[in-house]
Amino acid sequence: MPEQQDQIYHQPVLLDEVIRYLDLKAGGTYLDCTVGGAGHLMAMLKRTQDTTFIGIDCDPDAVAYSRELTSAYSKRCYLIEDNFINLDLILDKLNIGGVDGALFDLGVSYHQLATPSRGFSYEREGRLLMNMSPVTESLSDRLRRVRKNEIIKVLKEFGDVRNYRKLGQRIYDARRNLHSTLELRRLVEDSVPRRFLKKNLQKVFQALRIWTNDELSNLSQALPTAFQRLGKEGRMVVISYHSGEDRIVKRFFRQLKVSGKARLLSKKAMKPSDEEIRENPRARSARLRGAEKCASS
Ligand SMILES: C[S@@+](CC[C@H](N)C(=O)[O-])C[C@H]1O[C@@H](n2cnc3c(N)ncnc32)[C@H](O)[C@@H]1O
Repeated sequence: MPEQQDQIYHQPVLLDEVIRYLDLKAGGTYLDCTVGGAGHLMAMLKRTQDTTFIGIDCDPDAVAYSRELTSAYSKRCYLIEDNFINLDLILDKLNIGGVDGALFDLGVSYHQLATPSRGFSYEREGRLLMNMSPVTESLSDRLRRVRKNEIIKVLKEFGDVRNYRKLGQRIYDARRNLHSTLELRRLVEDSVPRRFLKKNLQKVFQALRIWTNDELSNLSQALPTAFQRLGKEGRMVVISYHSGEDRIVKRFFRQLKVSGKARLLSKKAMKPSDEEIRENPRARSARLRGAEKCASS
């Protein structure tokens, strides 16, 4: 079992909305492309009887945890450790042509953030890793060969970081000696006024995580593949937590709508209620969008 730091692996976000939007059909086949702690997946399994689920996660901890949690459903729930950009290969290997729905709940799980040895958190000491999958290069390794302009661009475009040039220069200068999360934190502390510190730490760590895991390009690559695998009236639901992610989803769905290939399940992105945010503050940046493939497409 994975290293477990806290009781809760992950609290699923917008759970009722995901289930309503996916409109699970008896006998159907559904993809959960980001299984995490199987919060959404377990809820879907419990609400269905003869519906099949394929769950994907690139993090072996997530797959191990979810496999145990969903063991009672192993006859209709297949869990695969892989990157969702390999969706076509995964489905081909399972001999599955089309699916009735696909869920992407992007970003990191609470477990990943709360496990110091994974290096995602600016609050806890850990090696500067941040790679979700063991086949992805860690942040400290990637930094070692980064060009200065690239690190500045990452901080600006993925993080909208204050003083991105100054901080980018500092990270670049320290790049061969940056081994831990708290070393990176100290660089940010030295570059940003106190009153902006917390927000900036969040932004810097999020930007570097997105870069380490190629999150935006993975998303851009996977959305068309997942849509192509949907059967007629199949549905796609995406929850994003970063404006760059949501922009990609919004544009992708808009193109599908304009070309008559899909209809949008709501005009605007859906946000968690105040009550959900009170209970789970990490849900506050979530934006859910859904689309249904047109019967004629
Ligand atoms: C927000 S969590 C999902 C939480 C899950 N819905 C739940 O209810 O427990 C996101 C998960 O997506 C996984 N992930 C992120 N990018 C991925 C990718 N390109 N391929 C596969 N899994 C990915 C992460 O490892 C993480 O476990």
